[in-house]
Amino acid sequence: MNRTLLTCCLSAALVATAAQAAPAAEPPETVEINVQASHPDVQGLPADTKAVSGFSHRAHAETYLPGLQAFSRFPYEDGFTCAACHHDAATPGEAGSCLSCKTADAMLAKVGGPAKVKNLYHDTCKACHRAMAKAGRDTGPTRCNGCHGK
Ligand code: HEC
Ligand code: HEC
Ligand code: HEC
Repeated sequence: MNRTLLTCCLSAALVATAAQAAPAAEPPETVEINVQASHPDVQGLPADTKAVSGFSHRAHAETYLPGLQAFSRFPYEDGFTCAACHHDAATPGEAGSCLSCKTADAMLAKVGGPAKVKNLYHDTCKACHRAMAKAGRDTGPTRCNGCHGK
């Protein structure tokens, strides 16, 4: 193997390793949804009275959502379910540690500001459960305690 080829293969291998190590593309198994705790920088949020503990994040992304587009308030594709909740993300890597790939502020501005964070999440989460329940399908909770109970 000549030197140029070797150098080329080595850098390709390094790039591949870096790509595998990138954590952002892996949907975490569960997440704590508490915007006041995870985004202390955002001004004007309502009082922290509710959170959703142990949300089955990976199961939603990989198992539940495929095929349920008709029930979702936000569009997504079976090959990219992330967009159902990470509304501005264009790739799995962009679905990140905030409400969207962009800043939490930008996402909240779309629903009328931080004070309306409840609407954003209820549109994202509860709307699908509601529409499915109405259609007689097995789905997630529609009552407050089903999500906020723990
Ligand atoms: C059903 C809704 C939903 C789907 C689908 C979804 N996510 Fe999430 N994800 C969330 C919520 C809610 C959070 C927490 C947001 C916050 O607290 O700011 C989150 C957080 C994350 C985080 C940050 C976790 C942390 O603890 O910092 C990553 C990374 C992530 N999601 C990646 C993905 C990827 C990749 C996909 C698609 C394969 C995906 N998500 C699909 C709702 C969803
Ligand atoms: C497009 C539809 C859809 C969206 C969007 C959605 N869910 Fe669900 N959810 C489901 C379905 C379907 C189930 C039940 C799956 C099962 O039990 O087989 C479920 C189950 C649940 C459960 C019951 C426990 C469990 O995980 O099985 C909770 C809690 C829940 N969802 C919370 C949320 C929250 C919070 C969000 C928003 C961040 C959300 N869901 C977004 C469809 C959706
Ligand atoms: C499908 C799940 C789901 C159901 C059902 C649901 N919520 Fe929520 N709600 C959420 C999520 C997720 C958030 C965002 C929590 C956070 O980030 O703090 C939220 C936020 C809120 C907030 C904003 C305050 C805060 O601390 O963020 C209030 C108030 C609230 N919900 C009340 C209710 C009430 C009352 C009901 C029943 C009528 C209800 N919710 C049903 C998922 C749900």
